[in-house]
Amino acid sequence: MAFMRKTKQFNWNRKHLLGLRELSAEEITYILDTATGFEQVSTRSVKKAPPLRGKVVVNLFFEDSTRTRNSFTLAANRLSADVIEFTQKSSSVSKGETLLDTARNLEAMGIDIVVIRHNAGGAARFLSRNIQAAVVNAGDGFCEHPTQGLLDVYTIRKIRGSLEGLKIAIVGDIAHSRVARSDMWAMTKLGAEVTFVGPPTLMPSQVSKLPVKVSYSLDEVIEKVDVINMLRIQFERLGGNPFPSIREYSRYFGLTVERMQKAKPDILVMHPGPINRGLEMESEVADGKNSVILEQVKNGLAVRMAVLFLVNQAAMVTKEK
Ligand code: CP
Repeated sequence: MAFMRKTKQFNWNRKHLLGLRELSAEEITYILDTATGFEQVSTRSVKKAPPLRGKVVVNLFFEDSTRTRNSFTLAANRLSADVIEFTQKSSSVSKGETLLDTARNLEAMGIDIVVIRHNAGGAARFLSRNIQAAVVNAGDGFCEHPTQGLLDVYTIRKIRGSLEGLKIAIVGDIAHSRVARSDMWAMTKLGAEVTFVGPPTLMPSQVSKLPVKVSYSLDEVIEKVDVINMLRIQFERLGGNPFPSIREYSRYFGLTVERMQKAKPDILVMHPGPINRGLEMESEVADGKNSVILEQVKNGLAVRMAVLFLVNQAAMVTKEK
């Protein structure tokens, strides 16, 4: 297959992608290398490759999404799969049907890969233990968002060549962020030094046990880092008032044009989206010369093609045994 020619051989045997914590640096690198091979499919006049022809991918989304869901849909289409779009709002979940019953009923129609987003941590793992199809986690509660972590490290690697020795700040609502966790695992495994930055009320309770530095001052960190990833404040998951006001938060932890003047000239500015403009960052920064936010979205497509391709390959090997 043309897109695999330059990828170093590796024995990929994971039928599910549930999180990056359990992946080795070699496995992460293999996914990124596979994604590099898939990038060229999107540059063809006919943007299609055959590896998932005859396969069925279900997007099982119990939470809203713009980037992840559409990116998985397009990735599956580019690999020639059939795609079923499930959203909680228009489903029989409103009549009381459980996650497992929903998945088993879809499985009865003959599906091969389930891409699941759910507000409960562990939902993807639960499904992987209870259905036959391959399962890809598209975000579970506060736990992980592995394809976002992968596309973030892919974007940095593509621009900088490697993550080895890079200093990366992940800023904001760490406590409620599955992106922060997947980024942390992927970035540290690939050799970067990660600092979580935010108010104490938005830090995870066990943060000292994680392989990161912690800072409560963006002003102290900004001048030292090569990459800054600004997280969305997850208003839908906040309990109580973790900061006095939006203005106060923005003053201390927002990425403003003024604060950017202290940063390295070639700093990469990232955000997983959706952005609360004027809160996490000013529009001039989000749309400015250091921003790679839309590159992240673009790269997500090749990364998700690679993930669907690899889990399908492992699923076929499992079936043959
Ligand atoms: N980054 C991300 O997960 O965005 P969506 O919620 O739009 O999928």
